[in-house]
Amino acid sequence: MQNSSIKIGLLGAGKFGSFHANNLSQTHFDFIGVYDPLEERAKELASKYNIKTYQDVDQLLDDCDAVLIITTTVHHFSLLKKAISKHKHIFVEKPIVADYLEMLELAALVRDYPNVIQIGHIERFNLMLQKAFSDPVVPWLINATRLSPFNPRVSDVSVIHDLMIHDIDSVLTLANSTVVDVQATGHSYISGLTDVCHVKMIFENGLQANLFAGRIYKDAKREMDIYYLDRFEHMNFQTRTATINNFERRLESFEEKDAVMIGNWPDVPLARSMWQKVEQYPENNAILSELTAFYEAVAYNKPVKVGVREAAETMHIISLIEEAMSKSNQHHIYM
Ligand SMILES: NC(=O)c1ccc[n+]([C@@H]2O[C@H](COP(=O)([O-])OP(=O)(O)OC[C@H]3O[C@@H](n4cnc5c(N)ncnc54)[C@H](O)[C@@H]3O)[C@@H](O)[C@H]2O)c1
Repeated sequence: MQNSSIKIGLLGAGKFGSFHANNLSQTHFDFIGVYDPLEERAKELASKYNIKTYQDVDQLLDDCDAVLIITTTVHHFSLLKKAISKHKHIFVEKPIVADYLEMLELAALVRDYPNVIQIGHIERFNLMLQKAFSDPVVPWLINATRLSPFNPRVSDVSVIHDLMIHDIDSVLTLANSTVVDVQATGHSYISGLTDVCHVKMIFENGLQANLFAGRIYKDAKREMDIYYLDRFEHMNFQTRTATINNFERRLESFEEKDAVMIGNWPDVPLARSMWQKVEQYPENNAILSELTAFYEAVAYNKPVKVGVREAAETMHIISLIEEAMSKSNQHHIYM
C-alpha cells in the first residue's frame, strides 16, 4: 500500500498500550489517535504524543488504515471482529483471543483476509531465541521456566495464556515437528484460574519439552535450557546471557573462540572434556522490532512473522494443556 502515511490508532492505553505508544512514535506509521474506556488514560497518551483521543472504537477505526489492539485480553475477540469487518491491518497483543472457541471462530473469519494480522508473540524478536530458531539442528530436550509476581492486570486469563504462551510458541518454532502428547498439571493459588502450571510436550521427532510457568513469586525468572546432542545452552533472558556448554573428545580440537575448558577427565575412558562459553547479548527493544516488522508487512507486503496460523497453533496447544489438566488428578483449583 501507499506507505508515506499509514494512519494507525491504538486501542488500550494501559501499561502495555503505553509501551506500544512510545514505540509507535519511533516507527514510520502516522500515529493519529487512541481510545480507552478509561478516558483519563487515553488523554494522558494523547497529550504526550500529540494525537487525538477518540470517544469510541468505530470512530477510531474509520479514521485509520491500521490498528493496535492492546486491551485487556477478554476484549481482543470483539475488537478483532470489528477491525476485520472494516478491513484494517491489525496488530493484536498476545494471547490473540481468550479461549480456543474464539480462536476457531476467528480462524474461520480470516481465512481469506487480504490484510495484515500480526500477533504480539514478542519472543520471536528476542535476539537469543532468534539465534536458536536459525539453528538447523533440532534439540532433544528443552526445559523452560517463566515465573513472575502476581499481576492483577493480566489475571483475566490463566498463567498459561499470560506467561507460558511465550515458551509454547518458542518450543513449537524450535521443534519444527508435530506434537504427539501433552501432559499437564496445574493449580490456582490466587486468581481462581491456573496460576502455576507444569507441562510436558512430546514431539513426533522425539523432542521433549518441559515448561514451567507461575505467577505467585516474589521475583521474576525467565530461563530456557536447550539440549542438543553435542552441547547444551542455558539462556537467561533477564541478564541476556547464553552459556554454551560443549563436549569434545580430543582436547586440542576444540578451538572455539572465547571457550574455556571447565572439565577434563583423562583417567575416565572415553570421557570428553567440557568447554564453556558465555555470550552476552546486547539490549534489544523487541516491541520496536515487532512494530517495525508490522509496518514492513503493511507497507511493503513483507511476510508476517507471527500471523493467525502461528497463534492458532499456540492456542491449540493451550487447549490440549487445559484438557490434560482437567484429566489429571493433580489439577487443583483452590477457592
Ligand atoms: N507481549 C507481552 O509480553 C505482553 C506483556 C504484557 C501484556 N501483554 C498483553 O497486552 C494486553 C494489555 O495488557 P496491559 O498490561 O496493558 O493491561 P492493562 O490493564 O494495563 O491495560 C488494558 C487497557 O485496555 C483498556 N480496554 C479495555 N477494554 C477496551 C476496549 N474495548 N477498547 C479500548 N481499550 C480497552 C483498559 O481500560 C485498560 O486501560 C493484554 O492482552 C496482555 O496479555 C503482552
